[in-house]
Amino acid sequence: MSHTHMSSEAAAVEAAGTARARVKRTQAAAPYLTFDAMNEMLRARLETLPGPVRILEAGCGRNWPLKLSVPFTLTGLDLDADALAARTDLHQAVVGDLRTADFAPHSFDVIYNAFVLEHVSGARQVLDRFMRWLAPGGMLILKVPDRDSAYGFLTRMTPFWAHVMIYRHVLGYRQAGTLGHGPYRTYYDRVVSERGLRSFCLGNGMKSELYRLCSYAGDRRMIAAAFLTSMLSGGRLPWRHNNLLLIARTSTSR
Ligand SMILES: C[S@@+](CC[C@H](N)C(=O)[O-])C[C@H]1O[C@@H](n2cnc3c(N)ncnc32)[C@H](O)[C@@H]1O
Repeated sequence: MSHTHMSSEAAAVEAAGTARARVKRTQAAAPYLTFDAMNEMLRARLETLPGPVRILEAGCGRNWPLKLSVPFTLTGLDLDADALAARTDLHQAVVGDLRTADFAPHSFDVIYNAFVLEHVSGARQVLDRFMRWLAPGGMLILKVPDRDSAYGFLTRMTPFWAHVMIYRHVLGYRQAGTLGHGPYRTYYDRVVSERGLRSFCLGNGMKSELYRLCSYAGDRRMIAAAFLTSMLSGGRLPWRHNNLLLIARTSTSR
């Protein structure tokens, strides 16, 4: 083997190391957003795109949350046929699994994926498919709970039946755990974290913005549980947020 030229394996290892180092350097930067500020930001970003904007709502559930003035077409995909049947706003409804669904490359200008990836074993595989389906310059909008937050840790460390009990008896959702109603089983693949998402974007040459949000800001019991967990972790698990918003753009020249 030549000593003057680095092998492709060594080059790949070095590139991965460089990407990890860049992720570490930028890790502290994710700013906090409120849910209102997030919706306003998303609306404003989507309205900069030339219409008609082809949007895939991946794991769409029962509601499209954004009011847009730009013309758009909305494709909804979900495992849950009942949720899709309840939607009257979709131009195309697809019952399917994000891990096996098939769309032509570059089919969408925007993929919107909210609170789905944490429920998928094989989340990285789904993200790779999103990359194929997005047009050059396309926008990926992801909302996920952060597996590396105190909340994410508590969710991962407790059994699913405990999540159902909390939804039913603490949060008061009577139908929790019945067919078509949350909570849904969680997997929290490694990519469902700040570091995982930054690394995914870097690896795919995407420009990205990442924000932290907290869905339990008004709930003292949840704040106490997250704070205590964070203290017990020596501060390693942050408690002030549980969710992440990623807005990423693919390269225009791909
Ligand atoms: C927590 S709900 C979120 C729904 C909606 N995006 C929202 O923000 O309200 C998760 C949704 O993802 C869907 N889902 C979970 N795994 C999926 C998969 N592998 N493929 C497609 N949809 C999936 C579920 O059926 C459910 O509708």
